[in-house]
Amino acid sequence: MTTLLEDTKRIAIARQLAEMKALQTLLIANDRVLINGISDDEIRQRLQKMLEQDEKNLGVLETVMVQYGVKGEIQKSVEQGLAAIQNQMESSRLTLFEKAFQQELLKHQQTMTGITVHKAAQVVGADVEAAIAPLHTINFESRAHQEQFKGILEILGVLELTGQEPDQGLWARVEDAVAALTGVVGSVVTRTDDEMIIRDVLLMDHTKSDILIAEILQSDDPEKVQEYFGQLYKDVSIHGLAEEQVVYPALRPYYSHTEEIVDQTDGVIALLDELKAADPTAPDFKAQIKRFRSALREHINQEERDAFPILRNNLSHEQQKQMASDFKAAKGRIQDPKEALNLQDLVSQRSSNDRYKGGFNPMNHATFWERVFQTKAMINWVEAIVFLVGDRFIRDALQTEPLMNPEYSQLFYGLVFIIGIAYWWVSQDITRNHDIVRFGILAQSSVFAVLAYHTLLGSLHPLYLLSGVLDLTFAILFIRFLSANASSPILGKKS
Ligand SMILES: [Fe+2]
Ligand SMILES: [Fe+2]
Repeated sequence: MTTLLEDTKRIAIARQLAEMKALQTLLIANDRVLINGISDDEIRQRLQKMLEQDEKNLGVLETVMVQYGVKGEIQKSVEQGLAAIQNQMESSRLTLFEKAFQQELLKHQQTMTGITVHKAAQVVGADVEAAIAPLHTINFESRAHQEQFKGILEILGVLELTGQEPDQGLWARVEDAVAALTGVVGSVVTRTDDEMIIRDVLLMDHTKSDILIAEILQSDDPEKVQEYFGQLYKDVSIHGLAEEQVVYPALRPYYSHTEEIVDQTDGVIALLDELKAADPTAPDFKAQIKRFRSALREHINQEERDAFPILRNNLSHEQQKQMASDFKAAKGRIQDPKEALNLQDLVSQRSSNDRYKGGFNPMNHATFWERVFQTKAMINWVEAIVFLVGDRFIRDALQTEPLMNPEYSQLFYGLVFIIGIAYWWVSQDITRNHDIVRFGILAQSSVFAVLAYHTLLGSLHPLYLLSGVLDLTFAILFIRFLSANASSPILGKKS
């Protein structure tokens, strides 16, 4: 597929968002100018409140831009226009009334741009709508600020013209107007940006990828499919790369399956790369997308089900908030063509890295080692019971002499059973009890040595050596486990 990574409509929306950000920055600067110039306490307090909301909304806008996933550049002419307004606002050429009036116009512009972006998003796709949903907060608050400015303008205007305050009851009217607005849009106002923790940001991305896949599956228009896929490709790879930079390193000390989800991320990115080369009009394209969806979902489910609670339990609220902004910053860096390596390079670096080139290596996975210890525990139990109960029958069958002191054999197999329990404990949390593993290596190697010695002497039926070989195999596996654990923290904390 000749992937259209950037659709023109999406770029146009990105440009609008960049302009909203520039405008929001100007609004904040103007709020400060007005606060410094106004002597009326009531107005100053209201402006102060607006300034706080405007600052918060700048953060919301930045989140939306990163979440949206397409970087846009502000047009030169718009930038110059805003700079000119800022000059005027800071000069003494305008009266306070005129400055407030100018600010009201800018608030109007911000509201209308926000609303236009929303309408455009409805046309482009549900994924865009989801990404820019927090804009509702900005639209609503800019609209509410406009209502307040009507009041401010009335006071300043009457004052400038007559030297007197306008009649009472003005703020009550303003409050009524704001309340009416809340009834209309208040319900869609989302949580504020500064409350977001890493879980919220990751969930937002996961949902967006679901929406994009649904859009691809629903659409029969190859151009649309290409556009959605282009966005999906960018979103998922950038999300995965940012997770590897910010989230997984913090997760590793607490989560022994971290390497599994790192591998899954690499697998998902590699699948995406394969899909990029596919023809969207081919009859099996949607089946391929569905396969991709299952791989992605499996990974996302593990993250949401296992990893998120671990982050919540082990990191403070502050740390989770910090991680959210680090994650957004990492995404921003990867998205930015100037600062980052080309995404394509990053993705192919990931999918061709050593771990991936070597194919799937079970030894990097905690589950594999859990199974190893479980298996050895069960082998010990079965072996112990078989020899405790059936030693006589086995000796009869092999036509070997009966034991003269069966109590020694019984003591040995009793120990074998108990050591099996110890291996089971290891399997329950492979980040702990590593001394049991060391003990197991010594015990199993000595069992092999004794059995091999007697087999060589001819004093033991060779069949017994089988359990010695099994022990030696597990001793070697246990050594591998300890060395894998020492060379990297992938298997969790050492005991
Ligand atoms: Fe992930
Ligand atoms: Fe994720």
